Amino acid sequence: MHQPEHRRKLCIGMSVAPTWLSGEGWRDPDSGIEGLYSSDLALDVARRAEAVHMDFVFRPDASFLPMQMMEQSFGFSSLDPTLLMATLARETSRIGLVTTISTTFGHPYSAARQMMSLHWLSRGRAGWNVVTALQGNENFGLPEMPSSETRYARAAEFTDIVRRLWSSFPLEALLVDRAAGRYADTDLLLPIDHQGAHFAVRGPLNLPQYPGPRIPLMQAGGSKYGVDFAGQVADMVFAQTPDLQSAQALRAQLSDRALAHHRQPHDVRLLPGLSLYLGETRAEAQALFLATNRRVDRKQRIARVQEFLGLDLGDWPGARRLTDADLPEGFTSPRCKTHCDALRRIIRDLTPTVDELLARPEIQASVHWQVIGTPEDAVSEIAGWFRAGAVDGFIAVPGGSVRSLDLLLDRVIPALAAQGLFRQSYSADTLLGHLQEGRD
Ligand SMILES: Cc1cc2nc3c(=O)[nH]c(=O)nc-3n(C[C@H](O)[C@H](O)[C@H](O)COP(=O)(O)O)c2cc1C
Repeated sequence: MHQPEHRRKLCIGMSVAPTWLSGEGWRDPDSGIEGLYSSDLALDVARRAEAVHMDFVFRPDASFLPMQMMEQSFGFSSLDPTLLMATLARETSRIGLVTTISTTFGHPYSAARQMMSLHWLSRGRAGWNVVTALQGNENFGLPEMPSSETRYARAAEFTDIVRRLWSSFPLEALLVDRAAGRYADTDLLLPIDHQGAHFAVRGPLNLPQYPGPRIPLMQAGGSKYGVDFAGQVADMVFAQTPDLQSAQALRAQLSDRALAHHRQPHDVRLLPGLSLYLGETRAEAQALFLATNRRVDRKQRIARVQEFLGLDLGDWPGARRLTDADLPEGFTSPRCKTHCDALRRIIRDLTPTVDELLARPEIQASVHWQVIGTPEDAVSEIAGWFRAGAVDGFIAVPGGSVRSLDLLLDRVIPALAAQGLFRQSYSADTLLGHLQEGRD
């Protein structure tokens, strides 16, 4: 396995899905939750993220509404992420804008057009999070979710079409010659005439190529098909790596798959989600974490263990110790593999009691890399993972309250910059420019 060349600087994305308002966070008087379906909330975060020179803001997405979640929180209800990013484009000038479009439910012509539109509107700052989606099939006429293998085969064809469409109306074709009355040189327009297993697309795209760096791609999905797809096409990988060991393992796999597709390992940047519950003291942060997840009751935690590990703890006494031998053999969870593996490792290495396992952050809340502590704790944890070569950066998903968001933007990011681990100012004004900047 090959280790990637180490970046000089972190690459940092900021989630504008308001994770800091999930759980009980939205109930704070100053949460601003009323702005959820306007662009105000995201705009405020994008401006502040730009002020501390983050690489990009990012909006994950889902095309379904788990109804039971709506009783207690905003769940997956959200504005369309690409339309939201378009509103941010005019109000910001340097920060990248990464939106999410599913290759399982969408069509490549529409996706190519939306993305190239966002790229023009933001003057070169668009990024596409290519997802094969977790659920939502019933909303698109599919009786069940296709397997990972089928989804990634479709994703590969979809992405290939999109990239060819992006080049199908090259900039040289655009003449805008007033004197001669020629708008475009039609000899240079290139239909793609694609006929494949999933799509038939003639092209060309009805929008010219943007005169600047291309649109970077992000991938999220940890199966062997997902990782191979990332090695083939992704500039960034949004991942769930709850511990250093899983980040290092994924980093090595991505490097391997990048080389297999004749790319450099560091062309594929590993950016795990980083959930941050921050306080001035560790006790404050811990209290915030507990308060945020207080409505995740024992029954829900037991259901999560069942979902992740196939283990029904319903009748088990809280003091009973868990070991490797308790894990059902051959169980595969519909949830992210890396997260389930990390939980298995916790059981194998720590042999926790049932109560201890149910109290773990990995069970209660985020499945991401997690810091519950002070801004200084966050800085040293990030620096440690980065210096260990495990990650190229991260996507910040602050939790619990706007306070975590504030401490991230006002304290953590400036401290990383002061330590030389992050930029002090922008030197580029496109997303690809930012991504390439931190490299040796
Ligand atoms: C960290 C992470 C973030 C994801 N974000 C999204 C998302 O925003 N929208 C979505 O529809 N699917 C999302 N997915 C689902 C993936 O696109 C993919 O469909 C799923 O993980 C199954 O692929 P896999 O078997 O390779 O993991 C995400 C997956 C991961 C691991």
